[in-house]
Amino acid sequence: MDEEVIEMPVLVVYASKHGATQEIAERIAQTIAAAGQQAQARPVTAAGDLAGYGGFVVGSAVYMGHWQKEAAEFVRRSRAVLAGRPVWLFSSGPLGTEPVDAQGRDLTVAAEPREIAEFTEAIHPRGHRVFFGVLDPGKLGLGERAIRKLPAGRALLPEGDFRDWAEIEAWARGVADDPALGIEPSGIGSEG
Ligand SMILES: Cc1cc2nc3c(=O)[nH]c(=O)nc-3n(C[C@H](O)[C@H](O)[C@H](O)COP(=O)(O)O)c2cc1C
Repeated sequence: MDEEVIEMPVLVVYASKHGATQEIAERIAQTIAAAGQQAQARPVTAAGDLAGYGGFVVGSAVYMGHWQKEAAEFVRRSRAVLAGRPVWLFSSGPLGTEPVDAQGRDLTVAAEPREIAEFTEAIHPRGHRVFFGVLDPGKLGLGERAIRKLPAGRALLPEGDFRDWAEIEAWARGVADDPALGIEPSGIGSEG
């Protein structure tokens, strides 16, 4: 089959508990749109029909080493479609200003959520990126406050907004510029 260059929008879907990941997803969609590719951001629970998109960005907040359940379920449920399109994953996780953890490991590597290996195998994403996140104590629930009171929790969960918008925008421009987005998928739901 011939490869045809076409303009299909990019869907950015996200799971966010306290809003930090939602804002990252929205900035990614805006940056992709500013680079000339149609893009929209939606919560993973309102992703809608996936036919008609040329590619997907799927992101989740990370809690206790895991993606949020609804984001992981979305990937598993949509696996057939996602495996046939270019997909990029992102996680919004580590906090603080230190780039490495107590063992000297790069935090964006050490903070990789447990699900990423499974998703890499299942849908072959074009990339996965960990972005630093936000902790606003005023938004936390009782369980989260209790975790922060533990000695290890206090050290790992400092208060603040640690998102690096320049880094997020540069990554999103890389998505928009990826030639894989212009290739008509030969898989499910794309004909006609
Ligand atoms: C109780 C608790 C546990 C967390 N666990 C992790 C974790 O295991 N790994 C990580 O990278 N970030 C962890 N974080 C940081 C959050 O994922 C980060 O603040 C994220 O940006 C929040 O996104 P949201 O506002 O979209 O929910 C944790 C935060 C809290 C409050």
